[in-house]
Amino acid sequence: MTMDATRQRFLMCRPTYFAVDYAINPWMDPTAPVDADLAVRQWERLRQVYLDLGHTVEEIAPVPGLPDMVFAANGGTVIDGKAMAVQFRDPQRADEAPAYRAWFEAAGFEMYDPKHVNEGEGDVLLAGDHLLAGTGFRTAHASHAQLQEVFGYPVITMQLVDPRFYHLDTALTVLDERTVAYLPEAFSPGSQAVLRRLFPDAVHATMADAEVLGLNAVSDGRHVVLPEQATDLAAKLRDRGYQTIGVDLSELRRAGGGPKCCTLRLRQGKADR
Ligand code: ARG
Repeated sequence: MTMDATRQRFLMCRPTYFAVDYAINPWMDPTAPVDADLAVRQWERLRQVYLDLGHTVEEIAPVPGLPDMVFAANGGTVIDGKAMAVQFRDPQRADEAPAYRAWFEAAGFEMYDPKHVNEGEGDVLLAGDHLLAGTGFRTAHASHAQLQEVFGYPVITMQLVDPRFYHLDTALTVLDERTVAYLPEAFSPGSQAVLRRLFPDAVHATMADAEVLGLNAVSDGRHVVLPEQATDLAAKLRDRGYQTIGVDLSELRRAGGGPKCCTLRLRQGKADR
């Protein structure tokens, strides 16, 4: 197995206005206090980990009144120089979509607009030559056909069934071109069968790992950045030859987000997978 790390380009959004003012997933409790300064420090550490690994981090300016804008993975899907903008299910996040769209446009990406609810890389993950696309809670099934048309990769629909794992990136991590890690119980029986067929060597995570958002991880093919609380998953990944880097995003987890949610991969061209 080759364990070559690829240099990646990421988009992130500083959680300057982070808060939990509404509840659109089971992790969010608007009555519990949030420490926005701690969220910023945890986020800065994540950003520094990427820089230390040799990745590039671009930043989009946070917008007051959009507390979930820190979750840049939901800002779009960017593959081969094309950027598909997003359409959020919930009105509380709707105004993030044009902010991210404007950033992609200014950065020179070829723009596509969504025709249905589509929450970007939260639900759309490139795994080798397939696009895995989640549905069941956020991204509409109808958007999967548009994703296939825009990007030209076969789209595999993944049916999510547990409301705690409402975005695909909370239930499945792409480790490299060939392998993923996932929580089987987060998927319908049919989707579990598809995952077994596509990824017979996949790492199966435990519920304990998933409950600390351990699967909300970012891999460059060699290093896997994941929540430090996901100790069993980290051990399994090390057994497979990956280097794991634990980060603490406990404050952002109060909104239902982890490292991957804070990170949007910007894939410029064909060679940049
Ligand atoms: N509070 C946000 C929401 O419910 C969290 C988004 C997490 N992002 C992700 N890619 N899973 O929409």
